[in-house]
Amino acid sequence: MKQEPDEAYRRRALAWALTLTEETYLAPGPDEQEHLERYVRGELSLVQLLTLSEQRVYHVLYRSQARYPFHEAQLNDLLDESRTYNQQHDITGLLCYSDGFFVQVLEGSEEAVQTLYAKIQHDKRHQHVRTLSRGPGPLRWFADWRMAYVHSTPLEMYWLISYLEARQQQLVVPQVPITEPHLLTLLDAFQHLGTYRSR
Ligand SMILES: Cc1cc2nc3c(=O)[nH]c(=O)nc-3n(C[C@H](O)[C@H](O)[C@H](O)COP(=O)(O)O)c2cc1C
Repeated sequence: MKQEPDEAYRRRALAWALTLTEETYLAPGPDEQEHLERYVRGELSLVQLLTLSEQRVYHVLYRSQARYPFHEAQLNDLLDESRTYNQQHDITGLLCYSDGFFVQVLEGSEEAVQTLYAKIQHDKRHQHVRTLSRGPGPLRWFADWRMAYVHSTPLEMYWLISYLEARQQQLVVPQVPITEPHLLTLLDAFQHLGTYRSR
């Protein structure tokens, strides 16, 4: 019969895991540290630990086209409405708009994100909603934002969408001329999500 490793073994494994992930996007957050400690104490099995980590954060990344050009006031109304709902449902993310195109990332529990995404997909204010990525991820990339917002230049939006679509199709993409900090975070997140999902 297979034996569960003892506490000394678990401690060594935890020390390794912490050292190897230090200052990387895989480094455990406070909740995960607690789960790892419970694993070390033998209160959770490895399977339970992995199940908990799979339930971490769910994300959806999509792009869409506005049915009409959005003015600043309409975007502000949309953001106000969104931030209130997102706050109540512990959803974070980024909305990017330029010249009739949207790119959005939603992050939160799987249930909360799927429920909101279903509403967004049916929203008459935009069309051609195309999912670029969805699934569990290692962390929240926009944890401090109930919905960060970037009004990007058309050129940046063009590069952003080209980059995300090329990566989705697993094509090799060159460096893109994007400098806006939130968009760089998004590119970084998408790169890591690719590796996270393919593991
Ligand atoms: C591009 C776009 C992004 C949106 N993002 C959000 C969001 O982050 N949070 C949110 O609550 N609503 C968002 N909405 C609005 C939802 O589609 C929907 O109007 C809202 O959830 C209210 O739906 P309900 O009236 O069916 O409850 C977004 C709409 C659009 C067009």
